[in-house]
Amino acid sequence: AGPDTVTATGVPTGVAPEAVAQQGKYLTTAHGTRLRDSDHSLRAGARGPALLQDHHLREKVSHFDHERIPERVVHARGAAAHGTFVANGAARNICAARFLRRGASTPVFVRFSTVLGSRGSADLARDTRGFATRFYTDEGNYDLVGNNIPVFFIQDGIKFPDVIHAGKPHPDREIPQAQSAHDTFWDFVSLHTEAQAHTIWNMSDRGLPRSFRTMEGFGVHTFRLANAKGDTSLVKFHWKPRLGVHSVTWEEAQLASGADPDYHRRDLADAIEAGAYPQWDLGVQVMPDDQDGYYEGIDLLDPTKFVPEEQVPVQVIGTMTLDRNPTNYFAETEQVAFNPANLVPGIDVTNDPLLQARLFSYLDTQLTRLGGPNWNQLPINRAHVPINDMLRDGFHQSAVHGGVAPYRPNSLDGGCPFTAGAKDGAFIEVPETVAESVKERRAPTSFDDHFSQVSLFYRSMTPVEQDHIVAAYSFELAKCFEEPIRVRQLAALANVDAGLCARVAQSLGLDAPEATVPPADQEVSPALSQVGGRWPLD
Ligand code: HEM
Repeated sequence: AGPDTVTATGVPTGVAPEAVAQQGKYLTTAHGTRLRDSDHSLRAGARGPALLQDHHLREKVSHFDHERIPERVVHARGAAAHGTFVANGAARNICAARFLRRGASTPVFVRFSTVLGSRGSADLARDTRGFATRFYTDEGNYDLVGNNIPVFFIQDGIKFPDVIHAGKPHPDREIPQAQSAHDTFWDFVSLHTEAQAHTIWNMSDRGLPRSFRTMEGFGVHTFRLANAKGDTSLVKFHWKPRLGVHSVTWEEAQLASGADPDYHRRDLADAIEAGAYPQWDLGVQVMPDDQDGYYEGIDLLDPTKFVPEEQVPVQVIGTMTLDRNPTNYFAETEQVAFNPANLVPGIDVTNDPLLQARLFSYLDTQLTRLGGPNWNQLPINRAHVPINDMLRDGFHQSAVHGGVAPYRPNSLDGGCPFTAGAKDGAFIEVPETVAESVKERRAPTSFDDHFSQVSLFYRSMTPVEQDHIVAAYSFELAKCFEEPIRVRQLAALANVDAGLCARVAQSLGLDAPEATVPPADQEVSPALSQVGGRWPLD
């Protein structure tokens, strides 16, 4: 027996599904028998009852009855496209990943999404957008599962069910669909003030992108890169759209949501069909990895913090072009299973407690959403490399495994020992000293600052953009029924900016409270901007 390479008996990777599915001159049953008629059931006489014997009726209706799978628990509404990522080689000194070598060309699949709406919701809801990219590299799949906002609502993944429960429609009436316009949402973000950082981006024009093609993308967390020598650095990933960043106004969003709820997915598909292929540069902010996880006072393990680009400039390491629409929405856009744990050699995770929870959650949810443990065999999820994983059986198994010994080492199948390949492209976790080894449930004090970057963001906006932010808070909070929640959110805004708080308070007919947190020095000084490039790629 040879090595037990898993071979799929379904659609081979890279082959369009329509090339093999539902082909042929005649209609057949699912088991291939040619059909004479698919419009009339078999009945006891032309006007009599249908017969249980009608296997075609039962097969056709029964399969239809089971067409639906659960929508994603978050990011249910999405649109996707295929394309290619070409690296410029600028990352060669910091990352060993082969797909980042100069000139390397890697197929990608990207799914854009809203977070909170259900699968049939409107594209132009005020919300965060998902920006998930799969690189089918020659070292396995690498998934960069990001958003269009560089910070997140919460600092620890254990709160993710809570923030999503607060943002989804109320459990009694399942309204409102407009996620930011209700009591539980504002209750959560005013009680968990770490969420103010993300919320102000939602209230800004970033919450209403003009197009997926004009959105930035962010890896959000800090990741650890390793080069061939094992030297490491800490990075933040950024996607920069070649078309620039553009939004719609609130009024445009309202009109488009009514006139064309498919506004964003139509725009993406139409652009690609017309040959106007959207492009993004992938860039990194590179920080030294001195193992304490801070950079210039910013805790890089806190996902509610960004690193200002004036401080550490984004350096481009490659460009992505999306040039092919999916052939089948269900097979590709719906069945794709991204996972931040899909890593390749040279790219590793950090101890960001939000990321740590994500490493568990995606694989876990996909067991339910995709019906068992074998979704990696689906064409859209198959890596473009031979798979030799020793996994066996399970629901929806479509591979015919060879060999008798799915364990290593073994003396029957001539199986490779684990060590084979370790020096040649295997994934090696970067060794890291874990400083505090006391088991405890608490956040570090460096996670305590919930406001200074929120102020920095607000004060970096132009007057028009600030007007939009004031209008958004005013509109959304006016929809919040409970006055104590509105008052508590105003108290949070007072710690962001007194002017912002006063304007929103006036619009709500409430008093503007005083700040309770002393303002931090939020100005980015020229001296700070000069440290940019201090850890250059070359
Ligand atoms: C789905 C991004 C935090 C759990 C997604 C998707 C994106 C995303 C883009 C959609 C993927 C697709 O298009 O199929 C992010 C970002 C986060 C974050 C950028 C923070 C920086 C979390 C956390 C958890 C979580 C903390 C759980 C602890 C999930 C789950 C799904 C999902 C369960 C559905 C996956 C599926 O059904 O395939 N996330 N997420 N996410 N996320 Fe997150």
